[in-house]
Amino acid sequence: MDNMWVLLVTTIFLSTIILYKNRFRLRSKHRSPLPLGTLGLPFIGETIEFVSCAYSDRPESFMDKRRSMYGKVFKSHIFGSPTIVSTDAEVSKFILQSDAKAFVPSYPKSLTELMGKSSILVINGSLQKRIHGLIGAFFKSPHLKAQITRDMHKYVQESMANWKDDHPIYMQDETKNIAFQVLVKALISLDPGEEMEFLKKQFQEFISGLMSLPINIPGTRLYRSLQAKKKMVKLVQNVILARKHSGFSNVPKDVVDVLLNDSSEQLTEDLIADNMIDMMIPGEDSVPVLMTLAIKYLSDCPTALQQLTEENLKLKELKAQLGQPLYWSDYLSLSFTQSVITETLRMGNIIIGVMRKAMKDIEIKGYLIPKGWCVFAYFRSVHLDANHYDWPYKFNPWRWQDKDMSSSNFTPFGGGQRLCPGLDLARLEASIFLHHFVTQFSWRAEEDTIVNFPTVRMKRRMPIWVKRRGAKENLVML
Ligand code: HEM
Repeated sequence: MDNMWVLLVTTIFLSTIILYKNRFRLRSKHRSPLPLGTLGLPFIGETIEFVSCAYSDRPESFMDKRRSMYGKVFKSHIFGSPTIVSTDAEVSKFILQSDAKAFVPSYPKSLTELMGKSSILVINGSLQKRIHGLIGAFFKSPHLKAQITRDMHKYVQESMANWKDDHPIYMQDETKNIAFQVLVKALISLDPGEEMEFLKKQFQEFISGLMSLPINIPGTRLYRSLQAKKKMVKLVQNVILARKHSGFSNVPKDVVDVLLNDSSEQLTEDLIADNMIDMMIPGEDSVPVLMTLAIKYLSDCPTALQQLTEENLKLKELKAQLGQPLYWSDYLSLSFTQSVITETLRMGNIIIGVMRKAMKDIEIKGYLIPKGWCVFAYFRSVHLDANHYDWPYKFNPWRWQDKDMSSSNFTPFGGGQRLCPGLDLARLEASIFLHHFVTQFSWRAEEDTIVNFPTVRMKRRMPIWVKRRGAKENLVML
């Protein structure tokens, strides 16, 4: 009987091994294939066609053409690297959710040179998680939102007080100025003044090198950008020094405080100073573009503008009756205004997608992403896909009134471990700006077009002619 048992167990054991081996062999034999597509010309690949489409008003035409030939995921060769392009929401979600064992961020060389090795945008693993968690929680805190709201009231009013009806107002410049002041205040508590102007000037010099040749010798674009960064880092180091002399407060008032208060030894003062500048890269341009695009889309859609204005005037009137200021939560409670911002994010595609590099062979949905290849999760095609959004090129804020924003078909702020920590800040700033703008002014926009490459912006900086609303007019609108 004992022998029988031994025989039975051995047979099961051996057949399990054979089965497993066969399955493994079967898997490696039938490994997922590389996605279809072409790598184009030697060395330059398909970069020229990609860039020429990116400059047009339909940057996604590069993707659309290949999507119809090869499917939603295809291979290409852009910006010097073989690349798998994903216009598939599920595949892109998988890429965003993966950790650094599978994918790490991939940026052009000039950009990584400018950011340095310790930048939140390039680091991985526990340090990235730590910094990301700290700043994400801070930007979400009611305390910061209240402070941002107070600061923004001041900056917006100061800016709008100078607007006259006899010359054009350049929306893109005005919003850029306001958003920069808010960002610098949130990062290092600097108020408008000489140092702010210095920082603004150096930052413009710094970002001019983002798309430059990666050659760092005196006289080159990259060199000048790095010199500008050094000057900015010095300014932040002085802020840190002053903070240490005055002692830390328990309630952090800015991101510098948040990172200095952290007990982890990894967060050195140099790393913090460098990161204050690096964090300006994703924060500086995106918010003003969001505000400017919202004004552009509203100018072209009078019914949406009417509804948004009525909603905001109603709130203003109510708050005036109660004798209360507007709190941050009041702005975020305006449901149609939030839908306008959401629709602007969908159509505007301020960040068209994210680039990663595969750290090992990855198989997803029947496709192989080989180790060392780049992968481009292209959100724009998903946001403008008629299968997900009816009439996708039509600005329609009403589509969001009963729609779920948390779907993988809507990722303007990315997702997973690198989900934009500034997303609450961006929405709040846009809400406050829209409120003050539509309740104080009516306007006529001059003809202008959206440029999509290398970053999204207005070709003529969006000139508009404004007219200050009278108290009577406000009431008629109500
Ligand atoms: C409309 C405005 C904004 C948009 C559309 C936007 C979009 C994004 C996207 C798509 C990512 C993900 C990048 C990736 O996965 O590689 C990201 C990351 C990031 N964003 Fe934003 N962003 C906006 C505003 C801001 C603001 C105001 C800040 C404030 C400082 C900010 C700070 C960051 C940082 C630090 C990261 C990197 C996070 C990490 O890698 O851990 N963003 N943003």
